[in-house]
Amino acid sequence: MQCNNAIVTVDLGPRSYDIHVGAGLLDALGPTIRSVCDADQITIVTDKNVAAHYSKRAVESVETAGFSAKTITIPPGESSKSLAMAQRIYDGLAERRRGRRDPIVALGGGVVGDLAGFVAATWMRGVPFVQCPTTTESMIDAGVGGKTAVNHESGKNLIGAFHQPIVVVMDIETARTLEDRDFRAGLAESVKHALISGDDFLQWHEANATRILGRDPSALSELVLRNCRIKADVVQADERESTADEVGRAVLNFGHTAGHAFETLSQGELRHGEAVSLGMVVALALSVSEMGLAADVRRRAELLLEALQLPIRSTADFDIDDVFRAMSQDKKNVANQLRFVLLKGLGDAAWYRTGVCRVVASAIADVIGR
Ligand SMILES: NC(=O)c1ccc[n+]([C@@H]2O[C@H](COP(=O)([O-])OP(=O)(O)OC[C@H]3O[C@@H](n4cnc5c(N)ncnc54)[C@H](O)[C@@H]3O)[C@@H](O)[C@H]2O)c1
Repeated sequence: MQCNNAIVTVDLGPRSYDIHVGAGLLDALGPTIRSVCDADQITIVTDKNVAAHYSKRAVESVETAGFSAKTITIPPGESSKSLAMAQRIYDGLAERRRGRRDPIVALGGGVVGDLAGFVAATWMRGVPFVQCPTTTESMIDAGVGGKTAVNHESGKNLIGAFHQPIVVVMDIETARTLEDRDFRAGLAESVKHALISGDDFLQWHEANATRILGRDPSALSELVLRNCRIKADVVQADERESTADEVGRAVLNFGHTAGHAFETLSQGELRHGEAVSLGMVVALALSVSEMGLAADVRRRAELLLEALQLPIRSTADFDIDDVFRAMSQDKKNVANQLRFVLLKGLGDAAWYRTGVCRVVASAIADVIGR
């Protein structure tokens, strides 16, 4: 795969780190970690699918750099993002007597990254954490920014912590082995980044949709790099999503209020990115009716989602009351009100607070076909 390797720095003062993006970087995982860490032992957390392709290379690379490595392999899928699975990893760390200086490496997609990151944030009150994302979802979004979490049965990501990695290694060649559906799902977060950042990136997607879907190496490399830069900018400006009235880092939740509800209710049927795609369609409709977003932007966004073969109408059988109930568990809610991140224009987001109301019901009904 031809592409230039590049580094994006996330500038967070003492918690700053580099994101390495390029082809074949998995083989440099060990030396890259060694350049920021002088520990002796490393724990690699991965899932069964990723392990089959990449564990051996990752272990060889970290051992070459002088670490002794243990790999903990979890079952693939969102259901592994649980306290029970975190407990299994804590047990593995205890058994190997992993200490405060020993890094935990997440080798996998957003599930492995969120879970291993949560364990790294909590084991011994926090140990060094390394992200090695292997899905489009995690290269475009989840692998950067330090949000870690497991799910609670009442909602997604309800138990978690902020814990920044010490370094991120993105080998875009690993995207080659992704199932088509997983590859496409992650692209929804790229459309999200385009909508919240401005017309330039949206136009780039429109011009390059076919190359992206064809996994063209240079398109993929540019896609990942541009997304990393956007995410780094947002995280640098508001690391812990702390600004109450300004949207700040919460802009990254565009499409996620309804999206998380669809994902939870689908019980594993929808990929995270597919649910976000549907959630963005809800948010775009509300943006037009409540924020004055130009109807043409909504049309372009929906066309782009379709061009990237992402869903804009649900095929699952959702009940609208269940969707409202699931949205009522959203972390962004304040004082029992739902909060949506909406768009006034491309790159211009604002909060929208509401109760259960006709306008939201109608936007959801359009997507779930009720
Ligand atoms: N922390 C954050 O900021 C953040 C941001 C966005 C999403 N997320 C979270 O990310 C999760 C979704 O991540 P995801 O879409 O990467 O899902 P995932 O981790 O479940 O990966 C999708 C599938 O692809 C497989 N896989 C991974 N890499 C592979 C590869 N290179 N080749 C072959 N198969 C591979 C996995 O085994 C899995 O079956 C959700 O839980 C979501 O909440 C977190």
